[in-house]
Amino acid sequence: MKNLPLPRLDENRQLHDRLLRYCRLKEGQVWDDPEAGHRVGCLDSTNPAHIKELMEGKKATLAIHDPPYNSIAFKKECIIGFIQWCERWIDNTNFALTPHSSLYVWLGADQADGFQPLPDFMIMMREKPFKTRSFITMRNQRGYGTQKNWMAVRQELLYYTKGTPVFNVDAEYTDIPKILRGYYKEVNGRTTENIQRSKSDNIRAGNVWVDIQQIFYRMEENVNGCYAQKPLKSCERIILAGSNEADIVIDFFCHSGSTLIAAEMLGRRCYTIDIDPVYCEIAIRRLERFRRTGKTGWQNGNPFEDELRKDEQLKKLAGFENRILEELEQMLS
Ligand SMILES: C[S@@+](CC[C@H](N)C(=O)[O-])C[C@H]1O[C@@H](n2cnc3c(N)ncnc32)[C@H](O)[C@@H]1O
Repeated sequence: MKNLPLPRLDENRQLHDRLLRYCRLKEGQVWDDPEAGHRVGCLDSTNPAHIKELMEGKKATLAIHDPPYNSIAFKKECIIGFIQWCERWIDNTNFALTPHSSLYVWLGADQADGFQPLPDFMIMMREKPFKTRSFITMRNQRGYGTQKNWMAVRQELLYYTKGTPVFNVDAEYTDIPKILRGYYKEVNGRTTENIQRSKSDNIRAGNVWVDIQQIFYRMEENVNGCYAQKPLKSCERIILAGSNEADIVIDFFCHSGSTLIAAEMLGRRCYTIDIDPVYCEIAIRRLERFRRTGKTGWQNGNPFEDELRKDEQLKKLAGFENRILEELEQMLS
């Protein structure tokens, strides 16, 4: 069967709008997952009433947010407007979290524009009831840059907490074996070296994650049509560290549904929203397909391939009918 990749939907408005008719959620609606208790809402993260509706009186122990922050998403917004917008979903996050909970926010620092919005976001957060815990960097393999500057390969991830939430340190261990030896220390009168003393033969991820593959089209988890997909492995690491089984994890910027899939894999419930019905539909279809096939994405296909194939066949059929009608008209004239 021919591959059917979708172009980025944010860059192809016509196709995006064509897909709206296949979306089960309209603005303001929520899909309740009958199998594992997830919820996907077509809601606005800045609207307190929407978040109240999403949470249904429940609270989450972990929030993982990946807001749009670049010039694509906020072409016309100035930084002040952007930070005010962030403040609204941060306040809603505070409402949705338990008193002992963790918050992770993916953000960017545009080197061509005062490293925004990261610094102003950090300053805004100083006034909020969250404690700063870590400033994590995920290193991408590929980057962008010129021969006259350092290649940009960094993805920033901020970690905040409220109260004293769970931190499962086992989640920190990577698959990378320790190679450095020789850091000797006396323990109970015996000279030990670092590998003997440590909990694991592998290194901890620490606050610089170098072991996560960024998404590209050859990967199974790739979701065509999406433009800002986070690797499942990064979501899994955060979920394992910051929640226990059956906990609720929230994500106010669902997009391809990476947090949702990782939560499903790890036995957590995910309450997630996107303002755009197309991304809500993509995330729900991704979950349903994962359950049916064990596949985490579409690689070269796409979430709407059945409908788009039918559309193509109908178009071909219509062309065929038109040609026959034209021929008939010519014969009769
Ligand atoms: C950077 S993407 C998130 C990517 C996601 N972490 C993933 O792995 O697929 C941001 C998403 O936020 C959505 N969005 C933008 N404004 C929103 C709002 N006010 N409320 C909810 N979602 C919003 C966009 O439609 C977009 O899908």
